[in-house]
Amino acid sequence: MAALVLGLVVATAAVAAPDWMDCPTPCRCKWSSGKKTALCREAGFTSIPGTLDEDIQVLDLSGNAISKLSKSAFENVGLIHLQRIYLSNAGLTEIHRDAFRNLTILIEVDLSHNDIREFHPMTFRGNERLRVLYLSGNPLTKLVRAQFPPLPHLRTLELEGCNLEFVHKDALIYLAALETLNLKYNLLRNISEATFVNLANLKTLLLDSNPWRCDCDLRGFRNWFLNSKLYSLPLLCYEPLRLTGKHWGDVPPEEFACPPQLYPYPQLQVQAEAGGRITFGCRVTGDPIPEVSWLYDGYPINRTWIMIEAEYQWTNVSVNNVSESDVGTYTCLAKNLLDTASMNFSLVLPEVVTATTVSKSNNKIVWWGLLVVSLAVMFSAVITITAVCCVRNKNLTQRRNLKASVSFTDQEKKLLDVSIATTTDRGSDSCEALGPEVEMIEPPVHITIEREPVSSNLVGRKINTM
Ligand SMILES: *[C@@H]1O[C@H](CO)[C@@H](O)[C@H](O)[C@H]1NC(C)=O
Ligand SMILES: *[C@@H]1O[C@H](CO)[C@@H](O)[C@H](O)[C@H]1NC(C)=O
Ligand SMILES: *[C@@H]1O[C@H](CO)[C@@H](O)[C@H](O)[C@H]1NC(C)=O
Ligand SMILES: *[C@@H]1O[C@H](CO)[C@@H](O)[C@H](O)[C@H]1NC(C)=O
Ligand SMILES: *[C@@H]1O[C@H](CO)[C@@H](O)[C@H](O)[C@H]1NC(C)=O
Ligand SMILES: *[C@@H]1O[C@H](CO)[C@@H](O)[C@H](O)[C@H]1NC(C)=O
Repeated sequence: MAALVLGLVVATAAVAAPDWMDCPTPCRCKWSSGKKTALCREAGFTSIPGTLDEDIQVLDLSGNAISKLSKSAFENVGLIHLQRIYLSNAGLTEIHRDAFRNLTILIEVDLSHNDIREFHPMTFRGNERLRVLYLSGNPLTKLVRAQFPPLPHLRTLELEGCNLEFVHKDALIYLAALETLNLKYNLLRNISEATFVNLANLKTLLLDSNPWRCDCDLRGFRNWFLNSKLYSLPLLCYEPLRLTGKHWGDVPPEEFACPPQLYPYPQLQVQAEAGGRITFGCRVTGDPIPEVSWLYDGYPINRTWIMIEAEYQWTNVSVNNVSESDVGTYTCLAKNLLDTASMNFSLVLPEVVTATTVSKSNNKIVWWGLLVVSLAVMFSAVITITAVCCVRNKNLTQRRNLKASVSFTDQEKKLLDVSIATTTDRGSDSCEALGPEVEMIEPPVHITIEREPVSSNLVGRKINTM
């Protein structure tokens, strides 16, 4: 009964008011600043309500829980006369690039304080009347090249507190009418003046509360900004440490500098052939451009056969007719007003080795092998017999038994393998089961055969350095 009465009352009201004021509860539809306005704040909507009149010009859906704006989100529910859309604090995480399609008279959009991480660069394409765009308080992190489509009437862009770390220098190229840009409370460390030079109408540029790194990358922008009429609130350096907390204006431009950085070529350890020619060098960056010098064992290089050539960032050292006296440490030293950096190259000559030598890492094994060989000569006869036996008797099981029954120490096993290796020529295929072990101790095989005394320049290393 009560419902019927209520229904009657609503019906009467609807008759009295024009259609567009017939709003889905709990929205309120009314004239506001001369516009047909639907007020649907904090109304628990999870999508754009479908029952609003198509004449609605202003839609306030702030404080709802609409996680997504899908393609043609407004056009699909007939709202093509929208001029202002308020969707702040609406739990938005995703905006389809065509969400605002065909809203040709859209003037203002507020999407602030949502969880939108990314806008497709074409998101507002066609919303050519757009004048105000609030995107503050979204975790955007970066603005890419041409982040916004041509919006010839956009005057205000708010991007405060958007975790922005990077603004591409061409991010705003299509926003020629921009007057106010708010980039406060972001994570910007540098930015290029190229981002703004074409924004002829820019009157307000807010950049404070960013962790500016006052180095050579920012110098161009510093100079441009301080000399423009846009600079009002003082900006502070956050990095480097020596400038933390200083006003940009109190730091002279040359102190927006970058320390020298060195990159070696080809590497820090340079190996040369005696009598040959070797070139190495370092590439140096830094701003102001560092002065580079070279030292040999701590002193300026003053040898006629060593040439130093510099070109662009490179400084190269060439040593002609390399000899023992050139071995040592060469230091590349780079210095600008900010800092000095250095890098040590060591020039070495190769270790001279004889023909029968094994590589350094194997040396230990060889010496070990030699020792064991001399110790175990007495065993060799027995083991050789066993090995020959193995060769003749192709029975694998028997061989396994042999290995299992005699408990050799590791060294003895090596010896065993050595001895067998000396005999494998006669029947290598029969002993293939021992193949891998034979390979492993290949160098000692030579030794066993040659039986040279320990001193017989087996390893003639570093002859010329000793
Ligand atoms: C909506 O826009 C598309 C192109 O973006 C166009 O093809 C279509 O005709 C438009 N619809 C209306 C009703 O204007
Ligand atoms: C910021 O500086 C880095 C070099 O440190 C550079 O790679 C980057 O392009 C700069 N960003 C802008 C927007 O200038
Ligand atoms: C060349 O350098 C050495 C030190 O490496 C120094 O003793 C010597 O006097 C220098 N000679 C000249 C001509 O500068
Ligand atoms: C120094 O060496 C680098 C690497 O090979 C080379 O690119 C550069 O042109 C050299 N510069 C000079 C001045 O020789
Ligand atoms: C190279 O240096 C050695 C001494 O280190 C010298 O005997 C020889 O004549 C030099 N060769 C040339 C071509 O300069
Ligand atoms: C380079 O070598 C010199 C000694 O020749 C040493 O005093 C210096 O600390 C070294 N520098 C670097 C960067 O290793």
